[in-house]
Amino acid sequence: MNTLIRNGTVVTARTTARADVLLEGAVIKEVRAGIPEAAAAKVIDAAGMYVIPGGIDVHTHLDMPFGGTTSADDFETGTRAAAFGGTTSIVDFAIQARGTRMRDALDTWWKKAEGRACIDYGLHMIVTDLGTSGLEDMDELVNEGVASFKLFMAYPNVLMVDDATIFKALSQTAKNGALICMHAENGSVIDVIIAQALAEGKTAPIYHALTRPPGAEAEAVHRAIALAEIAGAPVYIVHLSSEDALNQVREARDRGVPAFAETCPQYLLLSIEELERPDFEGAKYVFTPPLRPKHHLPKLWDGLKQDHLQVVSTDHCPFCFEDQKILGKDDFTKIPNGGPGIENRLQLMYHYGVNAGNLSLNRFVELTSTTPARIFGMYPKKGEIAAGSDADLVIWDPGAVYTITSKTHHMRVDYSMFEGYQVRGNARTVISRGEVIVDGGEFLGKPGRGQYLKRAARGGAWK
Ligand code: URP
Ligand code: ZN
Ligand code: ZN
Repeated sequence: MNTLIRNGTVVTARTTARADVLLEGAVIKEVRAGIPEAAAAKVIDAAGMYVIPGGIDVHTHLDMPFGGTTSADDFETGTRAAAFGGTTSIVDFAIQARGTRMRDALDTWWKKAEGRACIDYGLHMIVTDLGTSGLEDMDELVNEGVASFKLFMAYPNVLMVDDATIFKALSQTAKNGALICMHAENGSVIDVIIAQALAEGKTAPIYHALTRPPGAEAEAVHRAIALAEIAGAPVYIVHLSSEDALNQVREARDRGVPAFAETCPQYLLLSIEELERPDFEGAKYVFTPPLRPKHHLPKLWDGLKQDHLQVVSTDHCPFCFEDQKILGKDDFTKIPNGGPGIENRLQLMYHYGVNAGNLSLNRFVELTSTTPARIFGMYPKKGEIAAGSDADLVIWDPGAVYTITSKTHHMRVDYSMFEGYQVRGNARTVISRGEVIVDGGEFLGKPGRGQYLKRAARGGAWK
C-alpha cells in the first residue's frame, strides 16, 4: 500500500525543505513538493511538523547479563520504548562468553530478539577471548552482518582484554573492514584505586565515579587510537564522557586519523553530583564511564558542534532501583552498572540541542540517525529520506511539550535518569518500513516485526 506524508518539512542531515514523501510499501518512492493525494491509498497530514529519518541508537544492552543480574528491558520492551521516542533501529551488543565461539553468542542474541523486536536491530559482538580461531570467527561474523566488535579496556577478569588482543582484533578489521568499538578506561589502574577506596571504607555510590577518574579514560582513548594507528584501522570510542578523553579524539582527528566517538545524553546533561543523592539514590546514576564534574558538559557540546564527536547514542542498560541497583547497597562495586535512556534520546537532544541553540536541526538528524547509519554500515537503507531508502520516518511535533517521568515511560525500569525534565518537541507518528508503529502516544506495532539488520563492513565513514 502507498502512503503519502503531506505538508511537512523534510529534514535530513543536509537539507530542510517543504516536501511530501511518498512511501511504496516498506520503502520511500519519492520526495518532492506537490505529490498528488491520488498517488496513495493513505494520506498522513504533517502540516506544522518535521519529517525526519527514524532515529538510530547504536549502543543498547537489552536482555544482557551483567553485574550478577540482567538488564531490565528485553528486546520487546526495549524496542517498544525506543519506538515511542522515535528510534526505529538499534544496534545491540551480543557478548562472547570466554572460552566459547562468537558464533554461539550471535545465535543466542538472535534468539533473544526473535519474536520480540518491534523495530529493526543489528548486533555488535563483544569479544572477550580470541582463542585459537577468534580472528577467523570475526571474519565469519562480518559475513553475517556483524560489522563491528566491542572490546573492553576496563572490567579486569570479566570483560577486559589485553593490548595484544586489542591489537590483533584491530589488525583483523584493517583487513575485513569491520569497526572496533572501544570501551576506553584503564581497568587495571581503576581496580587499584577501587581497592584503596574499599580499604578506607568508602562504599557509597559516589565512589564509583571518584575511582574512575577522567585521566583513566583519556589514557585508554589515547592507547586505543595509538594501537589503531599502528594496525592501520579505524576505531570508534563508545560512551565518551570527559573533556580529557575528547581532547585525545580531537588531537587524532586533527592529524587525519580515522578515530570516531559517540557520547550520550547523560554525559551532556548530568554531572557527578547525581551520585551523591541521599537514600542510595545515587546508584541510579552508576554507569561507566561515570558522570563527570559540570565543567566537562559544555566541552562535550562543543565536541558535537565541531564534529569531534560524531554520534549520540544512549548506552541504554537499565537496572531497576528496587531490586537490582540495591545489590550494591553496602559496596558500590556491586551496583549493576548502567542506566536507562532508549526512549528519551531524541527528545533530549532536540530540546537541549536544537531548542537551546546548541545544534542545528540538520546536525540533530546527523548525530542521531545519519552518521550512525553511515559508520555502522546501514546507509542509505537507514538514516536517509530519499527514494529507495527504508521508509523509517518520524513525524516530529516541534511544539509538543512532554514531561519525562517513570510514571508514564515505556522502558521496563522503575526510575528515569531525567525524572521531571520538561522538553518541547516529541515524536507524533513513528513509521518503520512503511508501517505506522506509534501514533499519538499509542503503540500500533507488533513484537517480532523488527528485522535483523545485516550491516555492511567498511561503512565508509573513514574513507
Ligand atoms: O555502565 C555501563 N555503561 N553499562 C553497560 C556496559 C558498557 O560498558 O557499555
Ligand atoms: Zn562500555
Ligand atoms: Zn554500553
